Amino acid sequence: MNYVVEPGGALAGSLRVPGDKSISHRSIMLGAIAEGETRVSGFLEGEDALATLNIFRALGVRIDGPQGGNVTVHGVGLRGLRAAGKVLDCGNSGTSMRLTAGLLAGQAFDSELSGDESLRRRPMRRIAEPLGRMGARIETAEGGKPPLRIRGNPRLKGIDYATPVASAQVKSSLLLAGLYAEGETRVTEPAPTRDHTERMLAAFAHPVHRDGDSVRVSPGPLKATALAVPADISSAAFFMVGASIAPGSDVTLTGVGMNPTRAGAVDILRLMGADIAVLNERSAGGEPLADLRVRHARLIGVAIPGRLVPPAIDEFPALFIAAANAEGETTLAGAAELRVKESDRIQAMADGLAALGVAAAPTADGIRIRGGKYAGGKIASRGDHRIAMSFAMAALRASEPIEVEDCANVATSFPGFVELARAAGLRIRSV
Ligand code: S3P
Repeated sequence: MNYVVEPGGALAGSLRVPGDKSISHRSIMLGAIAEGETRVSGFLEGEDALATLNIFRALGVRIDGPQGGNVTVHGVGLRGLRAAGKVLDCGNSGTSMRLTAGLLAGQAFDSELSGDESLRRRPMRRIAEPLGRMGARIETAEGGKPPLRIRGNPRLKGIDYATPVASAQVKSSLLLAGLYAEGETRVTEPAPTRDHTERMLAAFAHPVHRDGDSVRVSPGPLKATALAVPADISSAAFFMVGASIAPGSDVTLTGVGMNPTRAGAVDILRLMGADIAVLNERSAGGEPLADLRVRHARLIGVAIPGRLVPPAIDEFPALFIAAANAEGETTLAGAAELRVKESDRIQAMADGLAALGVAAAPTADGIRIRGGKYAGGKIASRGDHRIAMSFAMAALRASEPIEVEDCANVATSFPGFVELARAAGLRIRSV
């Protein structure tokens, strides 16, 4: 499935993008091992979160829904999961695989986790190695890639681990294993990453302690709760960029999660001169949210500060489109992680920008982009949802149509993207 997007237009109106992907995954996982019934609203009915939902069903958890974003998870308690008796399919989702692996490491039964072609290329040693130190027995394929064969070990022990990569997936995987481990499990990060696991564990009456760059968890039961999932700031980011670059735009994105460990794209766009008003700040389920009003503005190129890399890690494809429309040069460094996402996002974006005629020079851990006018053309999304949606938004300022190839995976994070974008004013159709 390809997108064909006619050039020009503007974005307008009040929109609610689907539920947060990271929080949706965690609502199923923690709900599954809690005691009692967890009711979730605003759940993302995208393929990634549904992969997690189906995995926990296969592990013996009764889950009702999703229906209109509502899900009820009938928790089985820490020791209530059952062997699935089949390979657990994580699809395209790194979060499903890395977090579930932590949770399965401490079970009394064996499991196997696999996924699609993209996921089977992604690094898993970053969790297999520290989980191994806890006593987990995890076998990967060659090069530390999936599938993961996990031999259950109900006698894990807590460790004190300094992770070399700034990764919420690694941190969360270890914290989930820590719920099953003897003693305390402590993880120290090189830079703060998204803290949804920590916040949600607190909502499940099992607080995680933080001191400085470290978080620690002890074993023990979780208590079911009610959770309202905010709209995903990572999905909102495409509209923030689209509205910022297209003259005449004025959109309001409602109920967007504004967790400070996730909101780096707002800060970066503002540094570039974007007009973003943060309205009606409130909170739900321990997570801050707000409505974001974004109007067109003249953008300027910036050197993206290193401290804003982790809190904007998923938004760089969209931010590179903002850079292509900014005056002067935008530079990014310290973002080598982008090369091991659903695709190599540095190369995929550099190639796509070059195809449009934008001067973009990839580096080992970032990119340099010189903003200016650009044409249209054919873009390879490499089956990466965020590459596809980013180049769709680029058409707002192209001089010719843009055709983005291989867009089916947009359904992993943003079901209904085409319809919502079209309603807002993007001249998009799928073919
Ligand atoms: C996620 C963490 C990030 C992010 C991913 C979701 C999560 O990955 O890129 O989309 O839900 O914990 P890393 O932790 O590997 O950086």
